[in-house]
Amino acid sequence: MARISTFDDWVGLFDMWRTEMGVDHPYIKNYHFEVKYGDLETDEVEFGAFKGRKKWERVAQIPDQRMRDALLNYIVYQGDTEFASVEQQRFLFNTAPSEYDAASLARIMTEEMRHGWQMSHLLVTYFGDSGKLEAQKLLERRAFQKNRLLGSFNGDTENWLDLFTYTQFIDRDGKFQLGMLRHSGFAPLARSMGPMLKEESYHLGTGNNGMLRIVKAGVIPLSIVQKYINKWVPTAYDLFGTDHSGSAHWAYTWGLKGRYDESENQQPADLDFMNEYARNLYIRECQGLLDRINKLVPEDRPKLFLPDLKFNRSIGDYANQPFDLQGHLLPAEQFPAYLEAHLPNAADKEMLNGLLKGREWLAERELKTGA
Ligand SMILES: [Fe+2]
Ligand SMILES: [Fe+2]
Repeated sequence: MARISTFDDWVGLFDMWRTEMGVDHPYIKNYHFEVKYGDLETDEVEFGAFKGRKKWERVAQIPDQRMRDALLNYIVYQGDTEFASVEQQRFLFNTAPSEYDAASLARIMTEEMRHGWQMSHLLVTYFGDSGKLEAQKLLERRAFQKNRLLGSFNGDTENWLDLFTYTQFIDRDGKFQLGMLRHSGFAPLARSMGPMLKEESYHLGTGNNGMLRIVKAGVIPLSIVQKYINKWVPTAYDLFGTDHSGSAHWAYTWGLKGRYDESENQQPADLDFMNEYARNLYIRECQGLLDRINKLVPEDRPKLFLPDLKFNRSIGDYANQPFDLQGHLLPAEQFPAYLEAHLPNAADKEMLNGLLKGREWLAERELKTGA
């Protein structure tokens, strides 16, 4: 494929990608894609070795090549997730439970495309030839070819229980990533985050609300809902990165990526546990939401829960070891059968597909959507 030289060239590739994905809901067709920059909370680098200096407006002002590379990488990874999620969700229009839900999905998918558009705009505008190449590659990898950059974004979202679980837990990870980049010392990236976070909150709200509606309806067995939680949440834990991460340490020291609670947190950052810190805040938030959902679970039924941090991880200290949902180590030879029993299996999917054909599985939307 020819190399792009302008953002308009990139838009041409984006249009081709969109046609290939076949997402032609009218809401998506008529959407006007644009870059949105919000205001900076402060124009000074907020933390790390350059704290108090003016935030960088151009990449050339960033004092070190390793910093520029790390920054490029963050933008590439963020952009990759945005397009990937559209690829993952593109068939779900066909099975939308209501007009309202179809419109909701269309909004989510459009906004993810806009987020990818925004990241591509940063790459093409600020990062020279390597940025242009990376922006192009964002449209060349495919979730369904399993070559997106992060595990969650190569997973299959096959049905609406997948979608609600995914938006609840994976988009929520997105909110955390964007919240950390909001404090970036690279001003155009920090400015991109306000509008993206606003849009993202609708996605998480849709997921949380969807899970509430499912549990309220009481048609889909909770044991199956639990299996979808088991499927997605460990991939969300992975999205926070490896334990004792050197790159997260440097991203903070260089002022490129802050803590999720940077504005309120007066404590010095624990540089060897940056990813763990963010992941723990995420877990706390998810636990609070599950507690609310569990209020709808009848007294005598097992409650929904988050898998232990060790279960089914692909990166970090617990990667590729046979831990069960409670974090106990199992004999390795038992693990494949354990996974088969605790992740959605063929029989679960068949049963679920039967239930999803009706209308009773999802309560009317009356609960307010919110982050
Ligand atoms: Fe997004
Ligand atoms: Fe999202």
